[in-house]
Amino acid sequence: MRLAAAIKYAQPVTSPAGGAAPRPAAVIILAAGEGKRMRSSLPKVLHQVAGRSLLVHVIEAASALEPEHMVIVVGHGREQVIAHVQEFAPWAVTVVQEEQRGTGHALRIALGDLRTRGVSLAAGPVIVLTGDTPLLTRDTLGRLLREHATTASKATVLTARVADPTGYGRVMRDDAGGLARIVEHKDATVEELVVDEINSGMYAFEADAVEGALGRITTDNAQGEEYLTDAIGLLRADGHPIAVSACLDADEILGVNDRLQLAQAAALMRDRINARWMRDGVAILDSSSTWIDVDVDLEPDVTILPSCTLRGPTSVAAGAVIGPGTTLVSCEVGPGATVRHAWAELAVIGADASVGPFTFLRPGTILGADAKAGAYVEIKNATVGDGAKVPHLSYVGDAEIGEGTNIGAATVFVNYDGVDKHRTVIGRQVRIGSDTMLVAPVTVGDGAYTAAGSVITEDVPAGAMAVGRARQRTIRDWVLRRRAGTPSAQAAKQAQEE
Ligand code: UD1
Ligand code: CA
Repeated sequence: MRLAAAIKYAQPVTSPAGGAAPRPAAVIILAAGEGKRMRSSLPKVLHQVAGRSLLVHVIEAASALEPEHMVIVVGHGREQVIAHVQEFAPWAVTVVQEEQRGTGHALRIALGDLRTRGVSLAAGPVIVLTGDTPLLTRDTLGRLLREHATTASKATVLTARVADPTGYGRVMRDDAGGLARIVEHKDATVEELVVDEINSGMYAFEADAVEGALGRITTDNAQGEEYLTDAIGLLRADGHPIAVSACLDADEILGVNDRLQLAQAAALMRDRINARWMRDGVAILDSSSTWIDVDVDLEPDVTILPSCTLRGPTSVAAGAVIGPGTTLVSCEVGPGATVRHAWAELAVIGADASVGPFTFLRPGTILGADAKAGAYVEIKNATVGDGAKVPHLSYVGDAEIGEGTNIGAATVFVNYDGVDKHRTVIGRQVRIGSDTMLVAPVTVGDGAYTAAGSVITEDVPAGAMAVGRARQRTIRDWVLRRRAGTPSAQAAKQAQEE
């Protein structure tokens, strides 16, 4: 069993390895735009899908190409974006684009930075991506790279055919069927708008060639920006054929510009992740209500019932049944465990343990094998030993419970004195009576009992019975005297006469 506290909420992306050919000299990811339509204080590329930011999804896919260098162009919300890149992809370099003067300008700045650092851009092509396309796969990028290499082109454009090309740059073909230029939506004529072959905004370039063309582009267009797409038209006009790599699944190039597209991307990612787990032997009863983060790890024969969310680096072992209605955040679930209608975070749930329904496991909970956390139970920072049970209506905080111990219904581990938290240690095979208040710091020895309704403030030695409650006082005929004429008094009278 691994210590719950050691489990991290999110995993950084492993750095590119190196070796496979053809390798890009650099991958450049454009991510300086504001993302106005998100209407968010969070920079657009930091919004999450399946437990990872849009940007880190792109970084992850691009890392598979094993580039020599990765440059991320940042602008809006740069402090947050730079900190995020340092946390999740510390090998990548960020370059600031002070003013967002267009995609061509952004690429010019990134290439300039690589040159300034003395990077040789002759070793391989430069791949250009945008930071808001979380569904992009390494396979598609691999194909783009191969297409570029086999055609020996100066530029290769990743394109797609889409049902609704609104907003995208359109791919204009010449009479021979080759790519002639790209026309932005806002600059397109009525005839050009009909074209459903669009520019994904992702490319492979030969650095020298694209730099030459970028030096010649103007801002003479509807948006007054330096269009990277114009560099493609210029290269073509110079007589360089432009290669096209068609992306067969247009979902992959879906760019997130607003909350609707974010939800769309999340749903597509959810289906993709669930399909993969089902192929690997996981039973998912209702894929549409099952949300699994990319860092989750599941063994075959795990069953996930409807309405479950598995977040962070959660792992679930074979035979476990999760749900319905369960959220696991960075948890470790052992083989054969059942977790129903529960919320658990940074918790370890042992083999064949039973959790729920309606259970709240907070950080630092460690349930042993065959242990139980039942209905209306909250546990935090506590170890529950093998076979130990907390079956009903209890709060367990800052505690250690030995194996085989039973905690009676409605027991409270009174861990907080208003200023400090204190620990409770309960031994093996202890029977804590119902409605016991265990006022920490306190220790209950192996095999001891506490009487129901006790307030335990002093340590209980092994094998003892601790009674910490007022004696019962019974006042005969009180109801007959003080509540005369009530249904209770009548019932009592009848009972006495019988
Ligand atoms: C761009 C393409 C368009 C393509 C579409 C695909 C151009 C001129 N057009 O259009 O043909 O169909 O992408 O989604 O390239 N960015 C910067 N700095 C800037 C401007 C943009 O870093 O100065 C970044 C943005 O953050 C974004 C990406 O570049 O990640 C694309 O910019 P955006 O303004 O969204 O371009 P589109 O108009 O969508
Ligand atoms: Ca865009």
